[in-house]
Amino acid sequence: MSSFDLTRRPRRLRATSHIRDLVRETHLRRDDLIMPIFVSHGSNIRREISSMPGIFQHSLDELDRELDAISQAGVPRVILFGIPEHKDAVGSDAFDTEGGIIQRAVRHIKKSHPHLYVITDVCFCEYTDHGHCGVLADDGRLLNDPTLSNLQRQAISHARAGADMVAPSGMIDGMIGAMRQALDEDGFHDLPIMSYAVKYASAFYGPFRDAVDSAPQSGDRRAYQMDPANAREALVEAALDVEQGADILMVKPALAYLDIVASIRANFDLPVAAYNVSGEYSMVKAAAANGWVDERALATEKLLAMKRAGADIIITYFARDLAGDLS
Ligand code: PBG
Ligand code: ZN
Repeated sequence: MSSFDLTRRPRRLRATSHIRDLVRETHLRRDDLIMPIFVSHGSNIRREISSMPGIFQHSLDELDRELDAISQAGVPRVILFGIPEHKDAVGSDAFDTEGGIIQRAVRHIKKSHPHLYVITDVCFCEYTDHGHCGVLADDGRLLNDPTLSNLQRQAISHARAGADMVAPSGMIDGMIGAMRQALDEDGFHDLPIMSYAVKYASAFYGPFRDAVDSAPQSGDRRAYQMDPANAREALVEAALDVEQGADILMVKPALAYLDIVASIRANFDLPVAAYNVSGEYSMVKAAAANGWVDERALATEKLLAMKRAGADIIITYFARDLAGDLS
Protein backbone atom coordinates (compact mmCIF):
# COMPACT_ATOMS: atom_id res chain seq x y z
CA MET A 1 0.00 0.00 0.00
CA SER A 2 1.69 3.23 -1.09
CA SER A 3 -0.90 5.78 -0.11
CA PHE A 4 -3.58 6.07 2.56
CA ASP A 5 -6.76 8.03 2.39
CA LEU A 6 -5.88 10.76 4.91
CA THR A 7 -8.04 13.88 4.81
CA ARG A 8 -5.95 15.83 7.25
CA ARG A 9 -2.22 16.01 6.63
CA PRO A 10 -0.78 18.73 8.93
CA ARG A 11 2.63 18.15 7.34
CA ARG A 12 1.40 20.01 4.25
CA LEU A 13 1.89 23.25 6.17
CA ARG A 14 5.40 22.29 7.21
CA ALA A 15 6.83 21.15 3.92
CA THR A 16 8.89 24.22 2.97
CA SER A 17 10.17 27.32 4.65
CA HIS A 18 7.76 29.34 2.49
CA ILE A 19 4.74 27.71 3.98
CA ARG A 20 6.21 27.57 7.47
CA ASP A 21 6.90 31.30 7.36
CA LEU A 22 3.37 31.90 6.18
CA VAL A 23 1.60 30.00 8.95
CA ARG A 24 3.89 30.82 11.88
CA GLU A 25 1.78 31.87 14.86
CA THR A 26 4.37 33.57 17.05
CA HIS A 27 7.18 35.94 16.23
CA LEU A 28 10.12 37.12 18.27
CA ARG A 29 11.08 40.70 17.45
CA ARG A 30 13.80 43.06 18.58
CA ASP A 31 11.06 45.36 19.83
CA ASP A 32 9.99 42.70 22.32
CA LEU A 33 13.30 42.77 24.14
CA ILE A 34 14.76 44.74 27.02
CA MET A 35 18.46 44.44 27.91
CA PRO A 36 19.53 44.52 31.58
CA ILE A 37 22.63 46.56 32.43
CA PHE A 38 24.71 46.62 35.61
CA VAL A 39 26.20 49.98 36.50
CA SER A 40 28.74 50.58 39.23
CA HIS A 41 30.56 53.45 40.90
CA GLY A 42 34.22 54.00 40.18
CA SER A 43 36.06 54.30 36.89
CA ASN A 44 37.64 51.97 34.39
CA ILE A 45 35.42 49.13 35.47
CA ARG A 46 34.32 46.59 32.93
CA ARG A 47 34.11 43.49 35.06
CA GLU A 48 32.65 40.34 33.61
CA ILE A 49 30.29 38.53 35.95
CA SER A 50 31.87 35.12 36.27
CA SER A 51 28.59 33.22 36.34
CA MET A 52 27.18 35.26 33.43
CA PRO A 53 29.69 35.20 30.55
CA GLY A 54 29.20 38.20 28.26
CA ILE A 55 27.53 40.33 30.94
CA PHE A 56 29.54 43.02 32.72
CA GLN A 57 29.45 45.55 35.51
CA HIS A 58 30.24 48.93 33.97
CA SER A 59 31.40 52.14 35.56
CA LEU A 60 29.90 55.19 33.90
CA ASP A 61 33.07 56.03 31.95
CA GLU A 62 32.97 52.53 30.44
CA LEU A 63 29.26 52.40 29.82
CA ASP A 64 29.05 54.08 26.44
CA ARG A 65 30.80 51.23 24.63
CA GLU A 66 28.19 48.81 25.87
CA LEU A 67 25.35 51.19 25.06
CA ASP A 68 26.76 51.58 21.54
CA ALA A 69 26.77 47.82 21.10
CA ILE A 70 23.21 47.54 22.37
CA SER A 71 21.96 50.37 20.16
CA GLN A 72 23.73 48.95 17.14
CA ALA A 73 22.12 45.60 17.77
CA GLY A 74 18.78 47.39 17.58
CA VAL A 75 17.65 46.99 21.19
CA PRO A 76 16.78 50.53 22.22
CA ARG A 77 15.46 49.65 25.67
CA VAL A 78 17.47 48.88 28.79
CA ILE A 79 16.73 48.19 32.44
CA LEU A 80 19.33 49.38 34.94
CA PHE A 81 20.63 47.72 38.08
CA GLY A 82 23.07 49.52 40.35
CA ILE A 83 26.04 48.45 42.42
CA PRO A 84 26.52 51.18 45.03
CA GLU A 85 29.80 52.20 46.58
CA HIS A 86 28.50 51.82 50.11
CA LYS A 87 25.72 49.66 51.43
CA ASP A 88 23.87 50.54 54.62
CA ALA A 89 20.87 49.41 56.65
CA VAL A 90 18.22 51.16 54.55
CA GLY A 91 20.07 51.28 51.22
CA SER A 92 20.30 55.05 51.07
CA ASP A 93 22.30 55.11 47.80
CA ALA A 94 19.07 53.96 46.21
CA PHE A 95 17.34 57.30 46.84
CA ASP A 96 20.36 59.59 46.72
CA THR A 97 19.21 62.07 44.08
CA GLU A 98 22.64 63.51 43.39
CA GLY A 99 25.17 60.77 44.07
CA GLY A 100 23.17 57.56 43.70
CA ILE A 101 24.57 55.23 41.09
CA ILE A 102 21.29 54.78 39.22
CA GLN A 103 20.46 58.46 39.27
CA ARG A 104 23.92 59.28 37.90
CA ALA A 105 23.68 56.53 35.31
CA VAL A 106 20.30 57.72 34.06
CA ARG A 107 21.54 61.29 33.67
CA HIS A 108 24.63 60.00 31.87
CA ILE A 109 22.67 57.83 29.45
CA LYS A 110 20.14 60.55 28.71
CA LYS A 111 23.06 62.72 27.60
CA SER A 112 25.20 60.20 25.78
CA HIS A 113 22.41 58.04 24.28
CA PRO A 114 19.25 60.14 24.33
CA HIS A 115 17.39 57.75 22.02
CA LEU A 116 17.62 54.88 24.52
CA TYR A 117 14.55 54.11 26.63
CA VAL A 118 15.70 53.78 30.22
CA ILE A 119 13.84 51.64 32.74
CA THR A 120 15.05 51.47 36.32
CA ASP A 121 14.69 48.57 38.72
CA VAL A 122 13.29 49.94 41.97
CA CYS A 123 14.35 47.87 44.98
CA PHE A 124 16.78 47.93 47.88
CA CYS A 125 18.55 44.57 47.99
CA GLU A 126 21.54 45.83 45.99
CA TYR A 127 21.92 48.77 48.37
CA THR A 128 21.33 47.32 51.85
CA ASP A 129 24.14 45.80 53.90
CA HIS A 130 21.80 42.95 54.92
CA GLY A 131 20.81 42.26 51.31
CA HIS A 132 17.05 42.30 51.82
CA CYS A 133 14.61 44.30 49.69
CA GLY A 134 13.72 47.00 52.23
CA VAL A 135 13.85 48.03 55.87
CA LEU A 136 14.49 45.23 58.38
CA ALA A 137 13.18 44.97 61.93
CA ASP A 138 15.54 43.85 64.69
CA ASP A 139 14.13 40.36 64.48
CA GLY A 140 14.99 40.19 60.77
CA ARG A 141 11.49 40.65 59.36
CA LEU A 142 11.11 42.93 56.36
CA LEU A 143 9.01 45.91 57.42
CA ASN A 144 6.43 46.60 54.75
CA ASP A 145 5.20 50.14 55.27
CA PRO A 146 8.50 51.82 56.14
CA THR A 147 9.82 50.25 52.93
CA LEU A 148 6.94 51.85 51.00
CA SER A 149 8.04 55.37 51.96
CA ASN A 150 11.59 54.59 50.83
CA LEU A 151 10.26 53.17 47.57
CA GLN A 152 8.44 56.44 46.97
CA ARG A 153 11.67 58.38 47.46
CA GLN A 154 13.58 56.00 45.19
CA ALA A 155 10.98 56.18 42.42
CA ILE A 156 10.84 59.96 42.48
CA SER A 157 14.61 60.27 42.41
CA HIS A 158 14.76 57.98 39.36
CA ALA A 159 12.01 59.97 37.66
CA ARG A 160 13.74 63.27 38.35
CA ALA A 161 16.98 61.88 36.95
CA GLY A 162 15.11 61.20 33.70
CA ALA A 163 14.05 57.56 33.84
CA ASP A 164 11.40 56.67 31.24
CA MET A 165 9.79 53.90 33.29
CA VAL A 166 10.19 52.48 36.80
CA ALA A 167 9.98 48.80 37.68
CA PRO A 168 9.58 47.90 41.36
CA SER A 169 10.82 44.39 42.09
CA GLY A 170 10.57 43.99 45.85
CA MET A 171 7.18 42.29 46.24
CA ILE A 172 6.24 44.81 48.93
CA ASP A 173 2.48 45.00 49.56
CA GLY A 174 1.10 48.27 48.24
CA MET A 175 4.25 49.20 46.33
CA ILE A 176 2.45 50.15 43.12
CA GLY A 177 -0.11 52.38 44.81
CA ALA A 178 2.51 54.09 46.93
CA MET A 179 4.77 54.77 43.95
CA ARG A 180 1.91 55.88 41.70
CA GLN A 181 0.76 58.37 44.30
CA ALA A 182 4.24 59.77 44.88
CA LEU A 183 4.97 60.04 41.15
CA ASP A 184 1.65 61.76 40.46
CA GLU A 185 2.16 64.23 43.29
CA ASP A 186 5.55 65.07 41.81
CA GLY A 187 4.06 65.68 38.38
CA PHE A 188 5.09 62.38 36.76
CA HIS A 189 1.59 61.34 35.74
CA ASP A 190 2.83 59.96 32.45
CA LEU A 191 5.67 57.84 33.81
CA PRO A 192 4.63 54.17 33.49
CA ILE A 193 5.17 51.56 36.18
CA MET A 194 6.11 48.05 35.14
CA SER A 195 5.36 45.93 38.17
CA TYR A 196 7.28 42.81 39.03
CA ALA A 197 3.78 41.74 40.01
CA VAL A 198 4.36 38.01 40.18
CA LYS A 199 7.84 37.30 41.42
CA TYR A 200 8.74 33.95 42.88
CA ALA A 201 11.36 33.14 45.52
CA SER A 202 13.59 31.40 43.02
CA ALA A 203 16.95 29.68 42.85
CA PHE A 204 17.21 31.03 39.29
CA TYR A 205 18.37 34.40 40.67
CA GLY A 206 21.70 33.02 41.92
CA PRO A 207 24.00 34.53 39.27
CA PHE A 208 22.28 37.94 39.56
CA ARG A 209 23.01 38.02 43.26
CA ASP A 210 26.70 37.40 42.44
CA ALA A 211 26.51 40.20 39.90
CA VAL A 212 25.27 42.80 42.35
CA ASP A 213 26.39 41.15 45.57
CA SER A 214 22.84 41.13 46.91
CA ALA A 215 22.46 37.69 48.46
CA PRO A 216 20.69 38.11 51.83
CA GLN A 217 23.20 38.05 54.68
CA SER A 218 20.79 35.96 56.69
CA GLY A 219 17.56 34.21 55.89
CA ASP A 220 15.99 34.24 52.46
CA ARG A 221 13.32 36.14 50.56
CA ARG A 222 10.47 33.69 51.07
CA ALA A 223 8.62 36.03 53.42
CA TYR A 224 7.99 38.43 50.56
CA GLN A 225 8.61 36.70 47.22
CA MET A 226 6.06 34.10 46.15
CA ASP A 227 6.12 30.37 46.82
CA PRO A 228 6.97 28.55 43.54
CA ALA A 229 4.19 26.12 44.36
CA ASN A 230 1.46 28.74 43.98
CA ALA A 231 -0.38 29.63 40.79
CA ARG A 232 -3.73 31.05 41.96
CA GLU A 233 -1.91 33.49 44.21
CA ALA A 234 -0.40 35.03 41.07
CA LEU A 235 -3.88 36.24 40.14
CA VAL A 236 -4.27 37.90 43.54
CA GLU A 237 -0.93 39.68 43.19
CA ALA A 238 -1.65 40.81 39.65
CA ALA A 239 -5.16 42.04 40.51
CA LEU A 240 -3.84 44.14 43.38
CA ASP A 241 -1.24 45.74 41.13
CA VAL A 242 -3.81 46.49 38.45
CA GLU A 243 -6.05 48.12 41.07
CA GLN A 244 -3.13 50.22 42.28
CA GLY A 245 -2.26 51.48 38.82
CA ALA A 246 0.37 49.18 37.32
CA ASP A 247 0.81 49.71 33.57
CA ILE A 248 2.62 46.46 32.75
CA LEU A 249 2.55 43.16 34.68
CA MET A 250 5.70 41.10 34.92
CA VAL A 251 6.16 37.44 35.71
CA LYS A 252 9.53 36.33 37.00
CA PRO A 253 11.33 33.99 36.42
CA ALA A 254 10.07 33.13 32.96
CA LEU A 255 11.06 29.69 31.76
CA ALA A 256 9.82 27.54 34.60
CA TYR A 257 6.74 29.75 35.01
CA LEU A 258 5.22 29.81 31.54
CA ASP A 259 1.95 28.52 32.97
CA ILE A 260 1.84 31.68 35.06
CA VAL A 261 2.65 33.86 32.04
CA ALA A 262 -0.24 32.23 30.18
CA SER A 263 -2.60 32.68 33.09
CA ILE A 264 -1.75 36.36 33.56
CA ARG A 265 -2.19 36.84 29.81
CA ALA A 266 -5.60 35.17 29.92
CA ASN A 267 -6.89 36.98 32.99
CA PHE A 268 -5.71 40.58 32.51
CA ASP A 269 -5.69 43.06 29.68
CA LEU A 270 -2.41 44.80 30.44
CA PRO A 271 0.82 44.07 28.58
CA VAL A 272 2.66 41.12 30.11
CA ALA A 273 6.42 41.03 30.58
CA ALA A 274 8.48 37.93 31.32
CA TYR A 275 11.89 38.17 32.96
CA ASN A 276 14.28 35.60 31.52
CA VAL A 277 16.45 35.74 34.64
CA SER A 278 20.14 35.27 35.29
CA GLY A 279 20.03 31.55 36.08
CA GLU A 280 18.15 30.87 32.87
CA TYR A 281 20.88 32.71 30.97
CA SER A 282 23.75 31.02 32.81
CA MET A 283 22.37 27.53 32.20
CA VAL A 284 22.40 28.09 28.45
CA LYS A 285 25.86 29.68 28.55
CA ALA A 286 27.31 26.86 30.62
CA ALA A 287 25.86 24.12 28.47
CA ALA A 288 26.98 25.91 25.31
CA ALA A 289 30.50 26.39 26.67
CA ASN A 290 30.64 22.62 27.08
CA GLY A 291 29.52 22.15 23.52
CA TRP A 292 26.35 20.41 24.67
CA VAL A 293 23.81 22.71 23.05
CA ASP A 294 23.58 25.25 20.26
CA GLU A 295 23.50 28.51 22.22
CA ARG A 296 21.69 30.72 19.72
CA ALA A 297 19.14 28.10 18.79
CA LEU A 298 18.41 27.25 22.41
CA ALA A 299 18.15 30.85 23.55
CA THR A 300 15.91 31.79 20.63
CA GLU A 301 13.65 28.81 21.23
CA LYS A 302 13.25 29.73 24.88
CA LEU A 303 12.40 33.35 24.14
CA LEU A 304 9.94 32.27 21.48
CA ALA A 305 8.31 29.96 24.02
CA MET A 306 7.84 32.91 26.36
CA LYS A 307 6.08 34.83 23.62
CA ARG A 308 3.95 31.83 22.72
CA ALA A 309 2.91 31.56 26.37
CA GLY A 310 1.66 35.13 26.19
CA ALA A 311 4.52 37.49 27.01
CA ASP A 312 4.51 40.75 25.05
CA ILE A 313 7.83 41.89 26.47
CA ILE A 314 10.91 39.89 27.46
CA ILE A 315 13.70 41.14 29.67
CA THR A 316 16.72 39.07 28.72
CA TYR A 317 20.51 39.08 28.98
CA PHE A 318 20.48 37.59 25.47
CA ALA A 319 18.94 40.74 23.97
CA ARG A 320 22.18 42.32 22.73
CA ASP A 321 23.55 39.13 21.20
CA LEU A 322 20.39 37.75 19.63
CA ALA A 323 18.89 40.94 18.26
CA GLY A 324 20.98 40.71 15.12
CA ASP A 325 19.07 37.57 14.10
CA LEU A 326 15.68 39.23 14.54
CA SER A 327 13.58 41.70 12.62
C1 PBG B 1 16.03 42.73 42.92
C2 PBG B 1 16.01 41.94 41.68
C3 PBG B 1 16.41 40.61 41.49
C4 PBG B 1 16.30 40.34 40.15
C5 PBG B 1 15.81 41.49 39.54
N1 PBG B 1 15.61 42.46 40.51
C6 PBG B 1 17.00 39.62 42.41
C7 PBG B 1 16.33 39.07 43.56
O1 PBG B 1 15.14 39.26 43.82
O2 PBG B 1 17.08 38.41 44.28
C8 PBG B 1 16.68 39.03 39.50
C9 PBG B 1 17.24 39.16 38.16
C10 PBG B 1 17.93 37.96 37.63
O3 PBG B 1 18.11 36.92 38.31
O4 PBG B 1 18.32 38.05 36.48
N2 PBG B 1 14.91 42.67 43.70
ZN1 ZN C 1 15.22 43.39 45.88
